Amino acid sequence: MREQIEKLRQEARRAADEANTPAELENARVHYFGKKGSFTLLLRGLGQMPPAERPQAGQRINEARAETELWFDRRAADLKIQERALKLKSETIDVTEPRGARKLGSLHPISIVLNDLVDLFVGMGYETVEGPEIEYDRYNFELLNQPKNHPARDAQDTFYIEDNIVLRSHTSPVQARVMLERKPPIRIISAGRVYRADEVDATHSPVFHQLEGLYIDKRVRMSDLKGTLDIFAKRLYGADAATRFRPSFFPFTEPSAEVDLTCPACKGGGCRVCKGTGWIELLGSGMVNPKVLEMCGIDSSVYSGFAFGIGLERVAMRRYGVSDMRWLFEGDARLLSQFR
Ligand code: DAH
Repeated sequence: MREQIEKLRQEARRAADEANTPAELENARVHYFGKKGSFTLLLRGLGQMPPAERPQAGQRINEARAETELWFDRRAADLKIQERALKLKSETIDVTEPRGARKLGSLHPISIVLNDLVDLFVGMGYETVEGPEIEYDRYNFELLNQPKNHPARDAQDTFYIEDNIVLRSHTSPVQARVMLERKPPIRIISAGRVYRADEVDATHSPVFHQLEGLYIDKRVRMSDLKGTLDIFAKRLYGADAATRFRPSFFPFTEPSAEVDLTCPACKGGGCRVCKGTGWIELLGSGMVNPKVLEMCGIDSSVYSGFAFGIGLERVAMRRYGVSDMRWLFEGDARLLSQFR
């Protein structure tokens, strides 16, 4: 009997040691300690022994069984640790491992143009300011000398929110706001969205972007405006870009000028883009109308200034050869990814 117990104990230990996973160990456990397990059967076999030997044999079997069960428990704990170590190893991430190429976003062409312009004007001492897109009639029109019967105030051209509140139709109202708030010298630019009741087509959109500039000081002259805008054109379109001033009319400037740029497509020779003239329209500008200065609380006998307004879509389209304005608003990745 003793030998039998000893043999079983050693066999069971070996089985525990050879189990490589908790599941294998569990199988072995059932095999030795289950209802029909070897230790159980051995205990049952006590009935066949002479009664006098039973207690001692029973005690031996129970001791061996308890001791072997402890062995199994230890083995279970070991396997658990091993399993955990394996799991940790398999889940380890090598943070130094190079990853595949990542798709980077890119700046929108309008943002690129705007950043360039802001850089340029800030470099010349201008400060950027912001104005609201929902604007009072007073700033959008009245203080800019746009009388009540002016056609641009028509609901066909301007989005009205209420009788005296509009979606700003240009960035010029920021001029009025700044002049009312500050004393000269004033040197600001302001960019943002503007709104007009236009149908969408290749050159129109009900929402687009403008950049406004305003410079007011003593003895500011038309030549200052011309010099500033010429630097601007060369910066945007290259050193051989030239500008010309064409007489024009804006209620808030006097005199007013539209500024043309040598056609970037043909360099002035005449082509389809410039309709054979060699020039394309770039922006509106002029000397701030003394009436506007006075309405905004600036003494026009002491101060003068110039102002200009640029459509950013137009600048971006010219610069990048985009022939349809809608492409700038559609968010097509095939277009946008070209501006890395
Ligand atoms: N606000 C004008 C427009 O939207 C552009 C403009 C022209 C702005 C002349 C100015 C300016 O500041 O002086 O068409």
